[in-house]
Amino acid sequence: MSDTAPASNLEKFTPRVFSGIQPSGGLTLGNYLGAMKRFVDMQDAGTHETVYCMVDMHAITVWQDPADLARNTRELCAGFIASGIDPERSILFNQSQVPEHAQLGWIFNCVARMGWMSRMTQWKDRAGKNQQNASLGLFAYPALMAADILVYHATHVPVGEDQKQHLELTRDIAIKFNNDFGVDFFPVTEPVIEGAATRVMSLRDSSKKMSKSDPSDASRINLTDDADAIAKKIRKAKTDPEPLPETLEGLEGRPEARNLINIYAALADQSAEAVLAEYAGAQFGQFKPALADLAVAKLAPISSEMARLMQDQPEIDRLLARGAERAREIATPILKRTNEIVGMIG
Ligand code: TYM
Repeated sequence: MSDTAPASNLEKFTPRVFSGIQPSGGLTLGNYLGAMKRFVDMQDAGTHETVYCMVDMHAITVWQDPADLARNTRELCAGFIASGIDPERSILFNQSQVPEHAQLGWIFNCVARMGWMSRMTQWKDRAGKNQQNASLGLFAYPALMAADILVYHATHVPVGEDQKQHLELTRDIAIKFNNDFGVDFFPVTEPVIEGAATRVMSLRDSSKKMSKSDPSDASRINLTDDADAIAKKIRKAKTDPEPLPETLEGLEGRPEARNLINIYAALADQSAEAVLAEYAGAQFGQFKPALADLAVAKLAPISSEMARLMQDQPEIDRLLARGAERAREIATPILKRTNEIVGMIG
């Protein structure tokens, strides 16, 4: 893989944002603050076209119960809309309804190298000790992810910190394709990993990220948690006995406190410094209820809107079909040109 960042070729491309979330069940506060909320901000900024995807083909790289996958895909669509994604201003769709992802994914399977894939920390983490028994799809996962992004010639990809290595691989695939075929066809996409909450940590163990797959429900806040559950989980979140410091330096060596401050900052659209300026000297007994109130105020309207939207499944399916149509308008000519470059007769 390349060690040095190549000169950007982005200026020749339409400014376009792409990002995706797996419909593998249960959105967490980490997904909301690290991804969805930032997707909405990028949509509202109006500086880029915005394309957002439910990546069901990525979800099935590990076993998914079919009925759950279908329900989770619709629920994720409802979650996007409830969080503020406007299916008119953004393109919102489901990956498997746009076959160009799989088609470009195959070409990228032939560009990417086995060695690149085997270095991916998420592959190692998710395959665990029994790699021989993991699906081939799980190994090839990052090549499909590169296809998701590059089939739209996306220039910017907002994600949480955990996706950084996959985005570096996406850049490597774009560069290798361009070099192999002597073209400047795929953009060398920029990851956008910004803000206070690019790595929201578990409420029980600050060395682990907040995750829907953590066996402990107390470790995370789910977007579907009610006000009581949210308040209880924050009250029980692991902390230290010290009062809050005045400055960020004072949070060094205090990862639990840092995590709660970051969560507050991201929910309130403030910097961590501003939050500390307000709460310097406060004990957690005072800060935690304020954080719980803020989280409930921001999340309760999202979960009730999700529940409302989920009652009209035909409307969700209509929106997804329309989103897929719009996505294909961009993806089809890019795939066609890719096939020509590779020498595949169309
Ligand atoms: P996924 O479904 O695991 O997570 C979706 C998004 O949520 C972010 N995220 C977090 N951010 C901060 N703190 C956390 N604790 C946290 N947990 C999750 C993730 O970083 C991600 O942005 N491989 C991707 C999905 C994908 C994709 C793509 C993303 C497929 N194709 C193309 C971008 C572009 C994934 O598994 O995300």
